[in-house]
Amino acid sequence: MADFEHPINTPPRAPSPVHRFGTLAVHAGAPHDPVTGAVIESISLSTTFAQTSVGKPVGKHEYIRSSNPNRENFEAAVAALEHARFALAFASGSATTATILQSLAAGSHVVSVSDVYGGTHRYFTKVASAHGVQVTFSPSIEVDVEGLIRPNETKLIWIESPSNPTLSLVDIRAVARIAHQHGIMVVVDNTFLSPYIQNPLDHGADIVVHSVTKYINGHSDVLMGAAAFNSPTLHTRLSFLQNAIGAVPSAFDCWLAHRGLKTLHLRAREASRNGLAVAHALDASPHVIAVNYPGLASHPHRAIAQKQHRDGMGGGMLSFRLKGGKEAAERFCQATRIFTLAESLGGVESLVEVPGSMTHAGIPREQREAAGVFDDLVRVSCGVEDAEDLKADVLQALEKAVVVSKIQNGVVNGVSST
Ligand SMILES: Cc1ncc(COP(=O)(O)O)c(C=O)c1O
Repeated sequence: MADFEHPINTPPRAPSPVHRFGTLAVHAGAPHDPVTGAVIESISLSTTFAQTSVGKPVGKHEYIRSSNPNRENFEAAVAALEHARFALAFASGSATTATILQSLAAGSHVVSVSDVYGGTHRYFTKVASAHGVQVTFSPSIEVDVEGLIRPNETKLIWIESPSNPTLSLVDIRAVARIAHQHGIMVVVDNTFLSPYIQNPLDHGADIVVHSVTKYINGHSDVLMGAAAFNSPTLHTRLSFLQNAIGAVPSAFDCWLAHRGLKTLHLRAREASRNGLAVAHALDASPHVIAVNYPGLASHPHRAIAQKQHRDGMGGGMLSFRLKGGKEAAERFCQATRIFTLAESLGGVESLVEVPGSMTHAGIPREQREAAGVFDDLVRVSCGVEDAEDLKADVLQALEKAVVVSKIQNGVVNGVSST
């Protein structure tokens, strides 16, 4: 173990890791207990830490909201996996977004990709605006960004790549190049891929954010978020807000999420293999209109995936449109036997949902459809079950959903029965 004590556990963390992903996932931020030798960290529930004299705590910590051992270890692990000097953990992905937006002064302007996670869209349009921060959405940010920048006002560019739920990709470096010419920071929500498949900071982003609730924890039993970055100035500002706003995770959740993170590479690799297998199966089905999956050669941004993703992997997330409209989409999600109809993603178990009626229902239809979120779009999160079982499951569900819908509409085998 001594081999891992330096540099993994010694702050400040190096931006270029010496060890590879799996080694970092298991060991970064995971020191043995110096007293008992315990290999796994204890869960430290104490809300306060003794001081030997006024202002002189025994160790590094004073009060649980400001810092605590489990959060510190988890943050060190996330920083290592995102090739960042710093990481901060929050109570949720949404709290992470909120804290970053809170760091902007009133009168600031943000440019965002159009098809962001529904909750991010809600925060941008209904909460940030109340604090005097305006957000402009762009469906093609690489092309539009220069024209959308407002001198002295635009402070942040917000990217989700892949986007949720249409899986379109953004060339992070192309956007960062323009943003940095204007002194603007770039944030990338990397929730859909996890740090195993994509490291946005390596492509010029200034902050990478995660809903840890998804792949990083990976077991659908923790709500948490994280942001990682290299700038000490950002660290000062965001850790101040982390403490001042107090939207922080519990020690127990940090411990659980850290345990999940240790197998991220295994889960993300398997989920991505399954994603590719399911995408191919859907692509070949006559019941499917279109498949959005960045691992397919036909994906319009495949070249970006090859440049930005580890080994050009597509990840575990995909979406597709099926014949038969909204009813068929909803019926499909009820007909799967392994995939559970539920919101969320990135867990070991496979999930399906209909974004137009569920996660993205709050976005006005016109805006939703402009971003490709039609009523017949189904979003799929592939877990780590066996690929053959997942493929068989989507194919049987398609038969049920589309054929039943055709019968109900009086059209079977292309012949109308009315
Ligand atoms: C891409 C993305 N970002 C952020 C969030 C918000 O995360 P949380 O649910 O942890 O608040 C989600 C949640 O689904 C998401 O999918």
